[in-house]
Amino acid sequence: LQGRKLLNLTTSVNSKIQGSVRCPGDKSISQRVLMIGALMNQAMKIDGFLHGADPLSTMSSLNQIGAKITIGKDGLVYLNKRDRAFLDCKDSLDLGNSGTGLRLMLGLTSGIGLNLSFCGDKSLSKRPMGRAINPLVEMGANIESLNGKLPISLSSAKLQTKFTYELPVASAQVKSSILLAGLAAKAEIQVIEPIQTRDHTERMLKNFGAKIEITSKQNKNIINLSSSNFLQAKDYTVVGDISSASFLMVAALISHSEGLEIQNVGMNPSRTGVLQVLKKMGANIEIKNQRLESGEPCADLVVKKSKLKGVKLSGDIIPNIIDEIPILSIAAAFAEGETLICDAAELRVKESDRLQAVSDGFKKMGIIHKNLEDGMSISGNADSLSLKDSILIESHDDHRIAMSFLIAGLKCSKPITVKNCENILTSFPNFIELTSAIGYKLEK
Ligand code: S3P
Repeated sequence: LQGRKLLNLTTSVNSKIQGSVRCPGDKSISQRVLMIGALMNQAMKIDGFLHGADPLSTMSSLNQIGAKITIGKDGLVYLNKRDRAFLDCKDSLDLGNSGTGLRLMLGLTSGIGLNLSFCGDKSLSKRPMGRAINPLVEMGANIESLNGKLPISLSSAKLQTKFTYELPVASAQVKSSILLAGLAAKAEIQVIEPIQTRDHTERMLKNFGAKIEITSKQNKNIINLSSSNFLQAKDYTVVGDISSASFLMVAALISHSEGLEIQNVGMNPSRTGVLQVLKKMGANIEIKNQRLESGEPCADLVVKKSKLKGVKLSGDIIPNIIDEIPILSIAAAFAEGETLICDAAELRVKESDRLQAVSDGFKKMGIIHKNLEDGMSISGNADSLSLKDSILIESHDDHRIAMSFLIAGLKCSKPITVKNCENILTSFPNFIELTSAIGYKLEK
């Protein structure tokens, strides 16, 4: 998957999934540890880092403003101490395909008070950034954008010393952006979230000794970050990404699998909704060796071929499974009965319009489904899909769409080709090697 050249991948038929693999590092955590680590400015070593395009574009952006982050020959990431303050930068910071990179960097650099501009790829340039810009501007940041989208420029401004914000959309990126702005500006922050979103930023800040408290009131989470924080660096281990593991889980569940072990999967409760959903669908997944790594729970999973049935997904669980809905839709397509997904309009503003992208792929495969404004209903069938001929599916340049349909190929009688899979590199750079290691060959 090296390079950004266009890459079509073709599935093979009659594969048997088995073996034992290590889950690649968590993308959300890898990005956060670089930003928080750079701000702490103390020597520190990171193990388990995801060497994917998204964390790497965040790393280069941080180095552009003066951070000293290097990758050792041992593959570990080293945060070295800077001998001067962060710097303004004339060249735009390019966050590539990464919404997390851009939204969190906007918060961090507003808090530091830099003069900068930001850019990204075609997909990132279409995504709404107002949700991150608005609270930062309310805090006092000086940010200009093209109607809430890239290109964005930031000029140095003093932020308020005390700021409270209630999130209008359930977004861990917006929550984290505000917390990082507050941390960098030494401001007292209160973020109120009506629905729980992933809490990696809060856990990481606690892990490094920040004064951060989370309480709940009338079903809302209230996060209070104190204005005076001295963070103490310590070596950090990034747990595996449950969103990446979910492609492997569904592969084992829908194919002829004698059992697949996925080691080192992040088990943060704000991310494990996918396990709850799969178990409700009838999945046989055993959770072993539960442990804690740098303040994040993780475990090893053993997944066995299972008879799946349809489920209803809506409400508060949606933010918890937001990145897994495309692969859960594939599981639903090969489950008995109907699956209904609602309250998921947020999928329309991810790396692609994921509801549309899944529907387009389903049309090509002949999977019966109905599109809704905020979701989809899927008529599942547990049998293998008999195709007259091989088919071509668009990835919409979206890593999770590409991987979802490549996994769907396990249940098809003819190979399917997924176009433009190069963005798999953003979150799962060893996807081809790993699927091949468990018995599923993808041809370039
Ligand atoms: C992420 C949060 C989610 C998720 C994204 C990563 C994060 O986005 O979809 O892949 O690292 O905070 P939102 O917070 O915008 O829902």
